[in-house]
Amino acid sequence: MRKTQKTAFFIVICAYRADGSSCDYFIQKGNQTMSKNFIEINALTFAYEKNTPVLNNISFHAHNHETIGIVGANGAGKSTLLKLLVGLELTYQGSITMADIDLNRANLSLIRQKTGYVFQDSNSQLFMSNVYEDVAFAPRNYQLPQAEIDARVNTALEQVHLSDLKDRQIYKLSGGEKKLAAIATVLSMKPDIMLMDEPSAALDPKKRRNLIHILNALPQTKLIASHDLDFILDTCSRVLLLSHGEIIADDTAEKILLDKTLLEENNLELPLSYSRK
Ligand SMILES: Nc1ncnc2c1ncn2[C@@H]1O[C@H](COP(=O)(O)OP(=O)(O)O)[C@@H](O)[C@H]1O
Ligand SMILES: [Mg+2]
Repeated sequence: MRKTQKTAFFIVICAYRADGSSCDYFIQKGNQTMSKNFIEINALTFAYEKNTPVLNNISFHAHNHETIGIVGANGAGKSTLLKLLVGLELTYQGSITMADIDLNRANLSLIRQKTGYVFQDSNSQLFMSNVYEDVAFAPRNYQLPQAEIDARVNTALEQVHLSDLKDRQIYKLSGGEKKLAAIATVLSMKPDIMLMDEPSAALDPKKRRNLIHILNALPQTKLIASHDLDFILDTCSRVLLLSHGEIIADDTAEKILLDKTLLEENNLELPLSYSRK
């Protein structure tokens, strides 16, 4: 399913992770080695209703293991962009390549194996009776052997520090615990990319800080949509600023999140940690 590099003088080198689960791409051209784009979005335009585009000619590329914040005022198109990247809406124009796989109707299952999507509302993600069953759901659906399912559930719960609640019924979880369980349901598929919509919404300061530590320890390529600019500053190295469905700025997190004028022009405010300084 990997794209073949057709240009004769390019050599593709795959660097496998220790568990052999995935690979980073480098393209060698003569003496130069450059990292290949892991996510490629080109000229992406989308409308829910005819003649009312919600995303307008969006293009950006990301390398493997980058963590990118997607910021913008309410209605800017952040959630819509994430939905498109995991194939929840397919009537777009332009092209989407995730984990080096072109997104189309035929390979949605593969795309969703590689790309984990964490809903803004954890209740939309958790629908089984207890934590184990929810985290095991996707690997079971992909018909992995039981021993592998158990191992993946255990690892995913360890990654979000929720092992103690493995057998807890979902309705007995707090909001913060539900968010971590929702993230574990995605991690159990060992995705290469994580898409997260407003992950810090409705978390108290301690749960929010805990989530920041957990996300920063995850190796995946992450796209985090949020209007919590302090959270973005603590988790992302790069930021895309969206306004009315267009990318207004694409730069380092510090550069964008400290630009008071740019933020105010786009109905945002400096992160609290900076406005106090
Ligand atoms: N299912 C939908 N049908 C029609 N319009 C929608 C739908 N979902 C979102 N929109 C519209 O798309 C625009 C972008 O919404 P959204 O992606 O949710 O923005 P954000 O996440 O940045 O707040 C808004 O104008 C919103 O009203
Ligand atoms: Mg949103």
